[in-house]
Amino acid sequence: MSAKMTVANLMILITFASFLMYQRAGKVETVGWAKGARRAQSVIIMGAGLYIIWAGVYGYFVPAVVRIYVLSIPQVLTVLGVFIVVTIIAVLSMRNAKQVPLHWGRMPVRSQHILILNAVVVILTMSLMGYARSSSRVHWHIYGVLEDTSPYAYSPALGQASAFMSLSTFVFLFLVAFLFWVISRTLRRFSTQYFFLAPFLFWAVSVPERPAVPAPQVSERPKFFRKAVVTACGFLIAFTYLANQVPQMVSLPPKKQEFDPSQIKTKADLVKLGQGLFFGKGQCALCHSIGPSESARCPDLKGIGAKLTREFIYESLTQPQAYIYLDYRHEGPPKQYPARMPHINKPPIGLSEPELLAVMAFLQSLGGEVTIQPEEVKTFLATTFSKEAS
Ligand code: HEC
Repeated sequence: MSAKMTVANLMILITFASFLMYQRAGKVETVGWAKGARRAQSVIIMGAGLYIIWAGVYGYFVPAVVRIYVLSIPQVLTVLGVFIVVTIIAVLSMRNAKQVPLHWGRMPVRSQHILILNAVVVILTMSLMGYARSSSRVHWHIYGVLEDTSPYAYSPALGQASAFMSLSTFVFLFLVAFLFWVISRTLRRFSTQYFFLAPFLFWAVSVPERPAVPAPQVSERPKFFRKAVVTACGFLIAFTYLANQVPQMVSLPPKKQEFDPSQIKTKADLVKLGQGLFFGKGQCALCHSIGPSESARCPDLKGIGAKLTREFIYESLTQPQAYIYLDYRHEGPPKQYPARMPHINKPPIGLSEPELLAVMAFLQSLGGEVTIQPEEVKTFLATTFSKEAS
């Protein structure tokens, strides 16, 4: 959420800045304070950008309520404020501006670098999107439906991935540069519409001993080629370096928790196993806390063992919709709402029946008496295993 808000606000701000430049193109201010106006505009826009980024990063360290009410709204208001203030400055300072002729095809070196960086960023972003998709699906082909826990179905850490992304961006740009080189050397007058034929034609004209077409002398060679390469490579190296500075996490498929019945001797063993499942494979702690917690969104399960019967716990886990929930947080009669608790025995969590018994034993141990016997789990395993074997 924090990242989304930040990116959306930054994009709006940058789009606004581009409109501003577009509006200013080919005009020279005549008012005396033009220089100051330009400076003020860039300071305001950059300051707003920095504030939005700061709020976005800070948003990761505060509870959701603060993030939404205290940080997001000022982010939006900042952008709106920039619109208003900067537009007023722009309109006033561009009054009676002189029109100067535009020369198409002529641009400062700075703009050329920006254009090249633009190409680099677009290609890099495409590979980053692929990486984001791969790393967020974790070990699922289709989340919750088709699992892939084979050892090769992992996403590398960002650092390693960034090196590959930078390399592929470089190779792509290199190939494009090669194409341009080929075209500018042999096929200057060849329609660029058929640029993809250029390598073939290049090869075709170089096959005979004498060159079929005398290579036309290229009058204007790009003089900034080396600088452009340095800019692009510098950017890619900086990106790879930065990506290696954040914490590196390889997303490996989860370790299968072995259910070894010989390890379960006492109720305490069962409870311990259930505790592991509660905080691990069962993912219960994503939603539930044990004891009051600021970040918990769902019922606090402290003392739940004393409140619920074994049957009710079982039903809560496997038939969450069986119990009708009523919402009283508004005027008038309470409204029913569907259960938000997932089916624990179905994918994506998909605990097996013995695992369910262990989790239930852990829940019972929270303030209540554990009535699940270790033998139950063992007989359960014995019957399911013998069923599978036969
Ligand atoms: C996606 C969030 C989520 C996850 C994950 C989750 N629960 Fe729940 N759970 C809820 C919600 C929300 C409720 C309240 C009832 C409802 O809305 O379905 C609930 C209700 C319960 C209840 C009944 C509480 C009561 O007072 O009636 C129990 C017991 C429970 N969960 C145990 C678990 C266990 C054990 C796990 C892990 C195996 C788990 N939950 C995983 C969201 C979750």
